[in-house]
Amino acid sequence: MKVFSITNNKGGTGKTTTTLNLGAALAHKGFKVLLIDLDAQCNLSIALGVKNNTSHIGELLVGESTFEQTLIKKEKMDILPSSRLLLSFEYRINMEPDSGYFLQEQLAGKDYDYVLIDCPPSLGSLTVNALVASDYFIVPIQGENFAYVGLDEILQLCAKIRKRMNPNIQLGGILLNKFDMRTKFSQMIYTKLSENSDIKLYKSNIRQDVSLMECTAFAQSIFEYAPESRGASDYMVLCEEVLSQ
Ligand SMILES: Nc1ncnc2c1ncn2[C@@H]1O[C@H](COP(=O)(O)OP(=O)(O)OP(=O)(O)O)[C@@H](O)[C@H]1O
Ligand SMILES: [Mg+2]
Repeated sequence: MKVFSITNNKGGTGKTTTTLNLGAALAHKGFKVLLIDLDAQCNLSIALGVKNNTSHIGELLVGESTFEQTLIKKEKMDILPSSRLLLSFEYRINMEPDSGYFLQEQLAGKDYDYVLIDCPPSLGSLTVNALVASDYFIVPIQGENFAYVGLDEILQLCAKIRKRMNPNIQLGGILLNKFDMRTKFSQMIYTKLSENSDIKLYKSNIRQDVSLMECTAFAQSIFEYAPESRGASDYMVLCEEVLSQ
């Protein structure tokens, strides 16, 4: 089992889109995939068509529900859904000793090939739980001017977690999203990032594609909603790169 956190403390960079569609690409290839929604906005749960779930990831983490009670099985992927109430659970998680290990404990011994965790846009205890449970973290950024502002914070948090809590965690890669390699400006950003030896950049980028925005409204992955789209093609190429890591 390989566990990936999709994380960035900056909002709206493509974490949820990447969790959903990279997960769907892996499932498409026949792997058994679990997605985890760790964000109180519930965007991933909504994108997977989860409604009226009785239990959620916050309850699982504090031990008020079991893995089986919380899990929702979909046709192609399983999901541990979130809830608007997750923030109050985050507060409770903070009060407990060793609270950073709760998610790792829940995933131990589970029978999945890939687990992808959609993190909230913050670096609080939920993101710490995700990183402690992960082998890799992926950081989607938008290829605009200040895209890498904030990268230091995630990299520093991970360095601390690697040292103290989870020696296995490593950067899978920085993923350029809404990116257009044809523009000079994008090429400049790409060159600048690839020259930085502290970071690892995925060779594959995700281009701007309105289908990626639309598919979530129909509770579908890009492979179901628009299999011929740029988005589907880009996420499949990314999937190949992730599999070769
Ligand atoms: N490559 C893309 N092309 C077009 N639209 C995109 C692309 N990637 C993401 N989007 C859209 O941009 C918005 C933000 O993306 P997303 O929700 O994945 O970001 P996020 O990092 O999860 O945000 P948050 O920090 O709020 O959780 C969404 O409306 C999504 O549909
Ligand atoms: Mg999100």
